[in-house]
Amino acid sequence: MSRNAEILAEKIREIAGPAPVRIGLILGSGLGHLAGAVEGVAIPYDELDGFPHAGVSGHNPQLVIGQLEGVRVAVFGGRAHYYESGRGDAMRLPLEVLKELGADTMIATNAAGSMVPEMPTGEIMALSDHINFSGLNPLIGEQTDARFVPMKDCYDPALRDILHAAAVKAEVNLHEGVYAWYSGPSFETVAEIKAIRTLGADAVGMSTVPEVILGRFLGLRCGAISTITNMAAGMSDESISHTHTKAMAPLGAAKLEKVLRAALPHI
Ligand code: HPA
Repeated sequence: MSRNAEILAEKIREIAGPAPVRIGLILGSGLGHLAGAVEGVAIPYDELDGFPHAGVSGHNPQLVIGQLEGVRVAVFGGRAHYYESGRGDAMRLPLEVLKELGADTMIATNAAGSMVPEMPTGEIMALSDHINFSGLNPLIGEQTDARFVPMKDCYDPALRDILHAAAVKAEVNLHEGVYAWYSGPSFETVAEIKAIRTLGADAVGMSTVPEVILGRFLGLRCGAISTITNMAAGMSDESISHTHTKAMAPLGAAKLEKVLRAALPHI
């Protein structure tokens, strides 16, 4: 663990109290309201040296530590995307801090485009796997053999089972599928969507994959849920823009919150 992560974790414990965190939640575009549901302390990223700028609209760059459904969580209200800085490892320090605070599990959320007609805007999807179409990796430059991280079952099967059981209990339809990571920030072309659909992806987005690689590197159990904010390019006449993403995210966000709340006590 880096010295910076140890120092930051100490600072966070001084502000939020010493009890260990169990689970980290990373919130995607337009999904920030969940941070408000946590009873706890909010620390702006600006006060955490080395935390990303998280300058994408629709994100709220603060770390909230507290209780959600009786579980101590750390909620990352904003994430750094590769496309903001050209750095694939921009979320490394926050995830190291999460681990240092005691967490054993991280759940990433994101906004995504769907390539499955039966999974339209407003639906949510648990990731079963991913395809890294960016060609990038946040562990490039890591010098130890720990960099050779196995990625089979990187979306923890037992955790996925818990999410599905929670969805049934919450009466929410939770799809499951493969997420393709495109670097962004431009959206995909119609030909790209046709290609990745043929290759087995169900949803496409610009985040999460580097975080899950880093999470597995740090030994965190990982899960992720997409909220579908649009049909991917060429799949429908629906508009594709960041404005549309932010406007549509709340449709899935309400379902996402129900599933997470029902799942948390069982994780
Ligand atoms: N493509 C990539 N990222 C996205 C999309 C999309 O269609 N929708 C929301 N985030």
